[in-house]
Amino acid sequence: MRSIAVMNQKGGVGKTTTSVNLAAALARRGKRVLLIDMDPQAHATLHLGVEISADTRSIYDVMTDDDTLEAVKRKAAENLWIVPSHLDLAGAEVELAGAVGRDFILRDKLPADPQMYDYLIIDCPPSLGVLTINALTAVREIIIPLQPHFLALHGLSKLLQTVKLVSQRLNRELRLTGIVFCLYDSATTLAREISRDVRTFFEDEKDRDPSLPWADAALYRTKIRRNIRLAEAPSFGQSIFDYDPKSNGADDYADLAAEVDGCKREFASRNKAKPSAARTAAAPDGSRASAPAAPNIAAELSGPAEPESSPAEKEPASSFFTPDPLSIEID
Ligand SMILES: Nc1ncnc2c1ncn2[C@@H]1O[C@H](COP(=O)(O)OP(=O)(O)OP(=O)(O)O)[C@@H](O)[C@H]1O
Ligand SMILES: [Mg+2]
Repeated sequence: MRSIAVMNQKGGVGKTTTSVNLAAALARRGKRVLLIDMDPQAHATLHLGVEISADTRSIYDVMTDDDTLEAVKRKAAENLWIVPSHLDLAGAEVELAGAVGRDFILRDKLPADPQMYDYLIIDCPPSLGVLTINALTAVREIIIPLQPHFLALHGLSKLLQTVKLVSQRLNRELRLTGIVFCLYDSATTLAREISRDVRTFFEDEKDRDPSLPWADAALYRTKIRRNIRLAEAPSFGQSIFDYDPKSNGADDYADLAAEVDGCKREFASRNKAKPSAARTAAAPDGSRASAPAAPNIAAELSGPAEPESSPAEKEPASSFFTPDPLSIEID
């Protein structure tokens, strides 16, 4: 069983949309998927049309009582089950504050038989509290949805530090598997530049310290385009595949599932494009590459920003990258 937490403490970046539609896409590929809604907002639960009432047993009961995941899970589609959430879960942080072993409650309730599901996917809340820590101790993999937006990169440093701390102290198997861009608008230069900066950052990190939990992180080739059908689907209680299977959103999540399932990772490559080509290459929109206007994520993650140099002094970063996809298998 592969176990994946979809996390980013930043709100509204596409965690729930990705958790639900990736889970649905994997289920449509014939994989048995258990989706755990770990967010008190219960958006994943609502997205899949699971009705919750005051006495619905939920992940709250798993976290604070004797209930098991199996006892509270609900079938959402062929091959797809969800452990629903409930607003009560918001109180769990406080209730669990003094509990012994509170960081491992979910891990200790995982199915005893790892063959029961092919995938366990956890939709994390937009915080780094005890609920997210429980998700991170229960899984081996993390997928981070990122919005290619200047502010979306703020906080990535904190997020990675959390991943590192959890991997060092609580879960040595934890690895960042991939970054997926959501709400992607390929027509904007900013989206392309941020995508390039993220790639450069992870390439450099791999060279710097191969033992880091994100050293092998992939930037998925599939970008989830901004698509209104994805935003509409939750209000109908349907995954994108039931709501509009012909939409770009359905195509993108089917592609992402194929990448995740095939473990085809577009690895940070050392084959960078030649700088001269990078500097003169025409971007897809016909504009010429120049010094980046986007923030340099490497600088942001490794410490305080250096004083701004003028564009003339600054070495233009590569804006043209030839990927060197590797395909690897994870058991
Ligand atoms: N690719 C997309 N195109 C259009 N709308 C999208 C897309 N992805 C997500 N959305 C919409 O953006 C909003 C935020 O997405 P989502 O709920 O998945 O983010 P989140 O990270 O789970 O948020 P939170 O941090 O509150 O849990 C939702 O209204 C969702 O329907
Ligand atoms: Mg969410």
